[in-house]
Amino acid sequence: MKVLVTGGCGYIGSHTCVELLENGYEVVVVDNLSNSKKDVVDKIKKITKHDLTFYQGDVCNLTLMDQIFAKEKIDAVIHFAAYKAVGESVTNPLKYYQNNLDSTIVLCEVMSKYNVKKLVFSSSATVYGNPKKLPIKESFALSPTNPYGKTKLMIENILKDLYISDNTWSIAVLRYFNPVGAHESGLIGEDPNGIPNNLMPYIMKVATNELPYLNIFGDDYDTIDGTGVRDYIHVVDLSKGHIKAIEKVLQDTGIDYYNLGTGCGYSVLEIVNTFAKVNNVKINYKIVSRRPGDIACCYADPSYAYEKLKWRATKGIEDMCRDSYSFVMKNKEHGYKNK
Ligand code: NAD
Ligand code: WQD
Repeated sequence: MKVLVTGGCGYIGSHTCVELLENGYEVVVVDNLSNSKKDVVDKIKKITKHDLTFYQGDVCNLTLMDQIFAKEKIDAVIHFAAYKAVGESVTNPLKYYQNNLDSTIVLCEVMSKYNVKKLVFSSSATVYGNPKKLPIKESFALSPTNPYGKTKLMIENILKDLYISDNTWSIAVLRYFNPVGAHESGLIGEDPNGIPNNLMPYIMKVATNELPYLNIFGDDYDTIDGTGVRDYIHVVDLSKGHIKAIEKVLQDTGIDYYNLGTGCGYSVLEIVNTFAKVNNVKINYKIVSRRPGDIACCYADPSYAYEKLKWRATKGIEDMCRDSYSFVMKNKEHGYKNK
């Protein structure tokens, strides 16, 4: 079975390529390297000792995508390629609507043309907005609060209409909670450009003294210690969820939605303290005001993914903190530079 992975050089895509190759799939990656580096391809090969085919290019490029589908005999697609920075999507919404929507529409057009109708799509817990109840179930109301999240909901709706128009499609929409951690080899992980927006990459930069302290955005939420609570999920667990989703779409037709989270919420302070303890490092922090748009608490009910995909997360918060740190330390030793 040959799987096309769009955005396969990125954080979650690269880990998923590893899982695919280790599970006997052939892998073709298309990535324009707008938020990743080409050496990730060699690292995936090194980890798995398997080959993969890499196309450097844009999923929005219909000619390129047509050429890829004409040349490769693709059986299914995992569509990661997208822009994902929430703050930037507020200041530059057109960039997000253009890339995230165009890439999906071009991809689906070409898939239709070549009769490849098996798709796993990367959605996000951000589609739920500020949930009225916890834990979050797939059936909850969807109301994203920023342009990035709105692109994800729009794509979910496009995919639903596509299935309604042609029910030979088979689509799994995966709503990820907060992916963190890195592959145990330390070769691949999250390596954002510039100053990170997300908690774990920021903590990693404080741990390595690239940034002096973490700003904790508010300690007056109605949570265990006043800081925000999220459902952090190890990226390797998340990637294994994609294998289950690919198996599912290859067997069935239909469109379905799955929360990929652990079901456990941890506060910012719990993450900071666990990171410091398991890695024996000091994480300096300051409490500052709340970040606009943040919610107090967000965690999944992942039981539907277990029922339908037989998938559940197995790694805990200590693994997530340890593997994140070991990725950053390993890459620092090998000349990692803050971009
Ligand atoms: P990432 O930025 O590391 O990976 C995305 C990859 O897609 C990058 O390698 C980038 O170069 C590539 N890309 C972007 N636009 C492209 C295009 N038009 N053509 C070809 N390549 C393109 O992001 P990630 O964290 O690995 O996220 C993967 C997917 O999961 C995204 O769709 C993202 O929205 C979604 N997601 C991520 C998170 C998270 O916190 N990381 C949470 C929920 C959902
Ligand atoms: C987690 C917690 C912050 C940074 C975002 C996107 C979401 C999804 C995952 C793609 C919150 C606090 C953070 C910092 C802090 N991405 N924090 N200091 O906001 O839950 O989700 O990434 O789909 O769409 O919105 O993740 O890591 O930014 O924040 O105190 O420097 O850490 O307030 O409570 P978030 P995050």
